[in-house]
Amino acid sequence: MCGIVGYVGNRDAYPVLVKGLYRLEYRGYDSAGLALIDPSGNLNVYKCKGKVADLEKYVAPMDPQGQIGIAHTRWATHGVPNDANAHPHFSQSHDIALVHNGIIENYHVLKAALIENGYSFRSDTDTEVLANLIEYVRRTNDCSLLEAVQSALKQVIGAYAIAVVEKGNPDEIIAARKSSPMVIGVGEGEFFLASDATPIVEYTDRVVYLNDGEIAVINRNKELKVFTFDNQESRVDIKRLQMSISQLEKGGYSHFMLKEIHQQPETIVDCIRGRINSESGLVTLSGVIANREKFVNARRIIFVACGTSWHASLIGEHLIEDICRIPAEVEYASEFRYRNPVIHPDDVVIAVSQSGETADTLAAVELARSHGAFVFGICNVIGSSIARATDSGAYIHVGPEIGVASTKAFTGQVTVMAMLALTVARERESVDPAVYTEIVNGLLELPSALNEVLKIDGQIKDLAKIFTYARNFIYLGRGYNYPTALEGALKLKEISYIHAEGYPAAEMKHGPIALIDNEMPTIVVAVPDKTYEKTVSNIQEIKARGGKIIAVIARDDTTVRRMADYCIEVPVVTECLMPIVVSIPLQLLAYYIAVYKGRDVDQPRNLAKSVTVE
Ligand code: G6P
Repeated sequence: MCGIVGYVGNRDAYPVLVKGLYRLEYRGYDSAGLALIDPSGNLNVYKCKGKVADLEKYVAPMDPQGQIGIAHTRWATHGVPNDANAHPHFSQSHDIALVHNGIIENYHVLKAALIENGYSFRSDTDTEVLANLIEYVRRTNDCSLLEAVQSALKQVIGAYAIAVVEKGNPDEIIAARKSSPMVIGVGEGEFFLASDATPIVEYTDRVVYLNDGEIAVINRNKELKVFTFDNQESRVDIKRLQMSISQLEKGGYSHFMLKEIHQQPETIVDCIRGRINSESGLVTLSGVIANREKFVNARRIIFVACGTSWHASLIGEHLIEDICRIPAEVEYASEFRYRNPVIHPDDVVIAVSQSGETADTLAAVELARSHGAFVFGICNVIGSSIARATDSGAYIHVGPEIGVASTKAFTGQVTVMAMLALTVARERESVDPAVYTEIVNGLLELPSALNEVLKIDGQIKDLAKIFTYARNFIYLGRGYNYPTALEGALKLKEISYIHAEGYPAAEMKHGPIALIDNEMPTIVVAVPDKTYEKTVSNIQEIKARGGKIIAVIARDDTTVRRMADYCIEVPVVTECLMPIVVSIPLQLLAYYIAVYKGRDVDQPRNLAKSVTVE
């Protein structure tokens, strides 16, 4: 959350910064701003409440000049979204401008000390405190900007990524990170800086990922230098970026979310590529095989995740217990990290995160490692913090996910979990070879099954129109499809702002059934599985109380078809992979309801794609 962009080189910085902010807008869109040092050496800040488009409208007529600048799109933590709280923040003298992603937890104490030393504040933010602290240190110690930033950050408790520019220092940006991501793009005589690589990809494919506790000195005339807060110089490790610009554009779709839903047949292919041997039919996740003993002898597997990744983990738990016969648990990373959990060195902890930057999941990884557990990451963003903090891992390879509501990452995560479970189960000899082959075949059938299911896009659109004005929804599922119900409800909540609850179908009798009336639509996943007959009974219980049923069924279903008010037909693959098929119409339903309600689908209110604060 919050996006940072920076540029220093020989181009006009303004277009680079604004374009970069658009790319990062998924990280927050409460306000936006930028700071430029103009050719006369003036440090100018432009910022306003609202989206990047509002900033552009406000700034463009002023024709901002400069070949060095920093910019920010905000997801508010301290202080309401308004012009004053927007970044960049000036120091008191207007000599220093700073953008910040994260939270400075001890900002009250630092602010009080600065007030005693004659500082006053224009905003309610923790960020302005840091801008003033850097200025105060620089003046009282008569030190360089780098030394002032180092010294100030040593006084700060919290998580942050920052970028700083200074009047009279027109060639240099100082950037630092602790628990919030920061990438530096290395061009020819120019440098780019961003919270993730998306603003950088069109200029260079050479990047440096800053590590925690590192400060970069980015000077247009010099080599990139990286130091620790204690001024030890770190090695600059330039990596090649694996991303293309077309992945960051809508490609003719009206929203990124719709594009990402429709991409899923291809992203599943990318996800399984090279991992299933077409001749032998064997699945290999190299990160698992390289750590075979850890998995084979695991006493327990604990998934840690947040949001949609947590829902995918529930399916992972089911898979691991089903075919690996290893006890598995799923934890909200935010609860796990503060609960003093029992973690053994022979536990395997699997951290699941699309962005690889979620603060709570990253902290859970660190906690698990400190207890000696082996930690495996399932991430999408290559080179992300969680991918780097784990002992090993498997990328889901679904390409950049821009829509705030996660879609293709969910199906990619479940696909990787199935491949992980198959790899481990084979090594443990815990799975019947026929079951193994059936799941492998299911994985191979997925792309065509998803292409099939996407053909009902128009039908789902019509259904969405009928239910646009419902105020509440219940989503029910059982077994592998209980998490699908949770995920379907989450999608609807996130982007349409309609209240929706996901529930295990049988548990409905213990509470939610009281909510059923003829105004409460219930979406039931009733595809063929072990509990199909039981789900049929649950549907009857709802019908008996006047509830409206939208059922997700197999094409050849005749039983539920007779009972349901509306049916969504899906192709059938092996049971454990059905959540991947079923989630697609539920994603589409949420999408079209949100569109009919006129919601901002790709940037729903209050949400951010990458939650890098607690
Ligand atoms: C935010 C996003 C969700 C995502 C969750 C976890 O809430 O809006 O879409 O599922 O964070 O993110 P992660 O990147 O760790 O999967």
